[in-house]
Amino acid sequence: MHCQTEAAPRACVDVHALEAVALAATRSAAVASYDWVGRYDQKAADAAATKAMREALAQAPGRGTVVIGEGEKDDAPMLFNGEIVGTGNGPDFDIAVDPLEGTSFCAKDLPGSLATIAFGEPGTLWSPGPGFYMDKIVVPPQAKDVVDLDDPPERTLANVAAALGKKVSELRVMIMDKPRHKNLIARVLRAGAAVQTPAGGDVGGSLAVLLPTLDVDLLLGVGGTPEGVMTAAAVRALGGGMLGRLAPQRDEEADAIRAAGMSLDRVYECDELAAGDAFFVATGVTGGTLLDRPRKCEGKTTCESLLISRGEIRYLTHTTFE
Ligand code: FBP
Repeated sequence: MHCQTEAAPRACVDVHALEAVALAATRSAAVASYDWVGRYDQKAADAAATKAMREALAQAPGRGTVVIGEGEKDDAPMLFNGEIVGTGNGPDFDIAVDPLEGTSFCAKDLPGSLATIAFGEPGTLWSPGPGFYMDKIVVPPQAKDVVDLDDPPERTLANVAAALGKKVSELRVMIMDKPRHKNLIARVLRAGAAVQTPAGGDVGGSLAVLLPTLDVDLLLGVGGTPEGVMTAAAVRALGGGMLGRLAPQRDEEADAIRAAGMSLDRVYECDELAAGDAFFVATGVTGGTLLDRPRKCEGKTTCESLLISRGEIRYLTHTTFE
């Protein structure tokens, strides 16, 4: 992120300071929601995560705008779109947040729940307006130039396989197990690829595509728009490929998108969803292949987070003392 060159210049963005704030925000949200793990109360878990993240973001140096909060589609507690965070002393920045990604995993104590956030320079994180859902393709860097959202899945699989130097039968495709994906999953299986079909969590699913150790080659299907923007920040930072297009799941959502003057046909490139030096941070809530859950022991709480920024993935373990 860079200095602004206006008549009255603001302070330079200290990316490390913002990364520290992002980590504090996701850790606070993870620890707060961890108290609700396995209690079958999604709203309480989301509310605890949101409150903790809001308090942490209040300490951010500068003036942040929540470009995309999460929770509106489910009427869940959220940081609101347009909400201003930070101390006000310092540079402007934009954020996209999901304080608790995978609320039902948290409520049921199933793997895959994360506290997540993305930071970008002002104007660099896409705002989906009233769109809650989008169609997504996420691929590793080697396959970024061979995918097209208009391609049938069979062609996408063939192109990605060729780009990765694999056979289609060697591909593993992440697709959330949703009724809307029944046909997609069937076609992918018929084409000969294997699938991984978690009940939800397409941020974690996309990260699995980007992290070579997790044995997933691409993500396909429709998920949330906030999740899409946060994913794009991570994909861009690592040079991967992502395409997205609004995919309303109800007539009212489609009407609202049209009324806002947005197109239902436009395909957004990764750079249009998150540009510049956008970065992404997640902290584990319920554990899983990606990140461990918070561990509480003898007055200490240890969290595991990952920071994806400027071509790097960093895993960070952090311990707080009561
Ligand atoms: P929550 O954080 O609201 O639980 O979202 C989890 C999630 O599975 C996302 O990863 C995904 O993008 C979205 O929900 C899909 O929405 P829906 O469950 O309505 O199909």
